[in-house]
Amino acid sequence: MRRILVTGGAGFIGSHICVNLLKKNYEIIVIDSLINSSLNALNRVSRIVNLKDDINKKISFINCDIRDYEALNQIFLNSSEKDKPIEGVIHLAGLKSVEDSLNSPIEYWDCNVNGTINLINVMNNNNCKSIVFSSSATIYDLSERNKIHENSFKKPKNPYGSTKFVIECFLNDLFKSNLNEWRIINLRYFNPIGAHPSGLIGESPIGKPNNIFPSITQVASRKRKTLNIFGNDWPTKDGTCIRDFIHVMDLADGHISAIEYLRKNKPLIKDFNLGTGLGTSVLELVNTFQKVNNIEIPYIFLPRRKGDISKVIADNSLAIKELKWNPKRNLEDMCRDGWNWQNQNPYGFANK
Ligand code: UD1
Repeated sequence: MRRILVTGGAGFIGSHICVNLLKKNYEIIVIDSLINSSLNALNRVSRIVNLKDDINKKISFINCDIRDYEALNQIFLNSSEKDKPIEGVIHLAGLKSVEDSLNSPIEYWDCNVNGTINLINVMNNNNCKSIVFSSSATIYDLSERNKIHENSFKKPKNPYGSTKFVIECFLNDLFKSNLNEWRIINLRYFNPIGAHPSGLIGESPIGKPNNIFPSITQVASRKRKTLNIFGNDWPTKDGTCIRDFIHVMDLADGHISAIEYLRKNKPLIKDFNLGTGLGTSVLELVNTFQKVNNIEIPYIFLPRRKGDISKVIADNSLAIKELKWNPKRNLEDMCRDGWNWQNQNPYGFANK
């Protein structure tokens, strides 16, 4: 599999995956609507992998929405005409804010679900039948006390999670329709943070971020005075919530392992958790960030955030065993690399 289409490839996770694909000598086509990402990310990707003359051969970009059948179909046709058919798709494009999804379920279902159906339709008509889908731990029943296994009970609690879940159901139906055709992997992400160690790419949220790590870096760069920590009365060791934070480069490595797994195996559908299997409390994260970067993060405790869960940790043993993947970066790496990016790019990819 040498030519890969990456939908949503200009985003936070997508850009890190592009670096790894190029380093492994894949040719990539990135499609992205840029509504929540920037083309600058791909220019930086080229800098990281040091593409010079052969840049246009190795990476091409098309600004397009995954719901646009004609545009997608043309990309597949053009590739085949050049005798370089697209052999697989890493599908990340989609809307991803839990909060927005509660207010705009139509938009979320249309973009994520209809967009994926459209993509699969185009792939099917062009005989491209390998896909790695970007799913999320949010599809599980997160009230589960133990580590979350791939077979753990599913119960998404918001429209964003529902769209991820139904897309997985759809991909299962697709696989079952002809057992000799499709190669499908669903990767369920836990909490990706950090950035490429070069500091050239990273998370560039538009508007005020809701997630913990960008909130910490905003306080570190003094864009916000204090960090709000939601709840110090959770049933955990220090009273703050526990999450499974994973370095975005480890997450990106997981996608390369998944693509290579699909190449080596017969048609299949498999689900894998991508997390470290380690639980870190919000306070531990803040303390590690302060220590590694030598920056004070003033914080205050507020009441619990609605919908939060005390503990979410992956059982990642299946991915380790089957994909031969192993998360290599620790919490200190996540904090150092994440801050290096934010410090060098206080406004993310925005031209300020
Ligand atoms: C959230 C999403 C999840 C998504 C993930 C991406 C929800 C319910 N879930 O998960 O679908 O895949 O982000 O990384 O939104 N916290 C603070 N102060 C802050 C921000 C967060 O204390 O300013 C706390 C939260 O209360 C929580 C922990 O940090 O306990 C992690 O929060 P967050 O980064 O938003 O991730 P999740 O809620 O785990």
